[in-house]
Amino acid sequence: TDLSKIRNFSIVAHIDHGKSTLADRLIQETGTVKERDMQAQLLDTMDIERERGITIKANTVRIDYTADDGETYVLNLIDTPGHVDFAYEVSRSMRAVEGSLLVVDSSQGVEAQTLANVYHAIEADHEIVPVLNKIDLPASEPDRVAEQIEDVIGIDATGAILVSAKTGEGIHETLEAIVNELPAPKGERDAPLKAMLVDSWYDAYLGVIVLVRIIDGVLKKGDRIRMMHTNAVYPVDRIGVFRPQMEPIDELGPGEIGFLTASIKQVRDTRVGDTITHEKKGCAEALDGFKPAQPVVFCGLFPVDNAEFEDLREAISKLSLNDASFSSEMETSAALGFGFRCGFLGLLHLEVIRDRLEREYNIDLITTAPSVIYHVYLRDGSMMELHNPADMPDMSLVDHLEEPRIKATILVPDEYLGDVLKLCQDRRGIQIDLTYAGSRAMVVYDLPLNEVVFDFYDRLKSVTKGYASFDYTIEDYREDRLVKMSILVNEEPVDALSTMVHQDRAEARGRAMVEKLKDLIPRHMFKIPIQAAIGGRVIARETLSAMRKDVTAKCYGGDATRKKKLLEKQKKGKKKMRQFGKVEIPQSAFISALKMD
Ligand code: GTP
Repeated sequence: TDLSKIRNFSIVAHIDHGKSTLADRLIQETGTVKERDMQAQLLDTMDIERERGITIKANTVRIDYTADDGETYVLNLIDTPGHVDFAYEVSRSMRAVEGSLLVVDSSQGVEAQTLANVYHAIEADHEIVPVLNKIDLPASEPDRVAEQIEDVIGIDATGAILVSAKTGEGIHETLEAIVNELPAPKGERDAPLKAMLVDSWYDAYLGVIVLVRIIDGVLKKGDRIRMMHTNAVYPVDRIGVFRPQMEPIDELGPGEIGFLTASIKQVRDTRVGDTITHEKKGCAEALDGFKPAQPVVFCGLFPVDNAEFEDLREAISKLSLNDASFSSEMETSAALGFGFRCGFLGLLHLEVIRDRLEREYNIDLITTAPSVIYHVYLRDGSMMELHNPADMPDMSLVDHLEEPRIKATILVPDEYLGDVLKLCQDRRGIQIDLTYAGSRAMVVYDLPLNEVVFDFYDRLKSVTKGYASFDYTIEDYREDRLVKMSILVNEEPVDALSTMVHQDRAEARGRAMVEKLKDLIPRHMFKIPIQAAIGGRVIARETLSAMRKDVTAKCYGGDATRKKKLLEKQKKGKKKMRQFGKVEIPQSAFISALKMD
């Protein structure tokens, strides 16, 4: 294809501002998919994404559009993931295109993820076309929102397109703006092949599918290609484009976006951001800025029923086929038996994987407290990366600890600002900035990642009735006074409940946890001490008193069915219990005990 007739773009938006609906409309308007094949949210392929309404895997579609100038253009839309956990994928896919549609819900305005994503677009030197969506809504205020875009983001919004992705209004104007305002890609057909690996995923029939953007040169079926960072060589089996279903083509030239398959076994062998070239006469230099995505949040996943360990192993290995940023290694815990220590890009990523294991593979799981990676500096001068509080060395060996800090940006309506500041302060935050955009405040906080991984989103949502939006980037590691707090149930330490806490907060946290556990653990025939301890020192203690009588004694004499029911209920409850020494702890206790409120 003639370079001047190609436009490559992405859509950046806050969650729910209508990105997928707009993409569907663009596809529909250009007849890329026949009406009857049109399915809501075509681009979100996985069910779980649809349910959660978030886009996880970057997808793409090629649209042929005959513009008002009579010429036919090839428009390549790359769909980027919208959530903060996937920031690296967003920034890579942005580098594969020249422009962005900035979609803002005109009844809501700019949100935290609008900002985070538009900054990726600006960093990638994009031409940006603002689109004010949902103008069909009575609450739509396009003028106010256009002004806000100019104030907060600092880009010209006078030419913003008024769109309703719902009714189709403004869709034609959007397509014309893509053609007229976004630049055509540059590239040289005769140069050695240089292509960016934008994304990859596992397909049960075709193996690993690799999404590529050709910068220079031409990629053909049968070519032998080399991944410049992993140095692996593969013969190309297929190349093609997405319309959005796969369609084979003969070659991909400069400026084009498409896919290849090459008998690649697992997604792990394809690194997003890697440069693909020909094995022979390859390009001299790889694209810059490559860095593999690193997990930042770790937790243990254990089957509630030990007999399900093999099932869990298999499920995890299947999921890893399709997700290079999810890591796992086997772990044994005195209390929980065999399981896996898993690493995730963030909390949402953790939840998505845990949900899939439970729902698609039908495994009941115990999830231990999420932990970040601490840097533990030992007295002998060495440093160890601590992924699991259970591995914390004895404090006498430790010189000091460092923890990851984040820069969090929160947008919130005025009236909730006080609660948000308090929440951040309670989580050891340091305020960096506070500005206003209309009736919304934008606060920037420096926070320990550790204080955010567990229930920060939930708390933020609840104190602001869902009106706050949140985004973060990891900044650096900094020293603080951190200690490992252990929980002992009936004098036995329960590894899965160990957490790293700040010294000044240890006592309050310990007290809260033992109080919660006292409510969460059912009474037994004997008295159970529940303690929080740092090293050998107990900092909080509760005692769960012994059960006096047999539960069934409560039922009046002869009512056999009631008695049976009660016993059945107990049996069912038991499935969700784990035995720790002589004590049974319900599965739900592991998460509930850690929630702070
Ligand atoms: P994520 O995939 O979660 O990032 O969301 P998204 O930005 O892709 O939003 P999506 O397209 O799923 O739209 C969110 C909701 O807004 C859906 O319920 C849509 O039906 C609705 N919606 C999208 N565009 C419009 C519009 O122009 N008008 C109205 N009234 N509703 C719209």
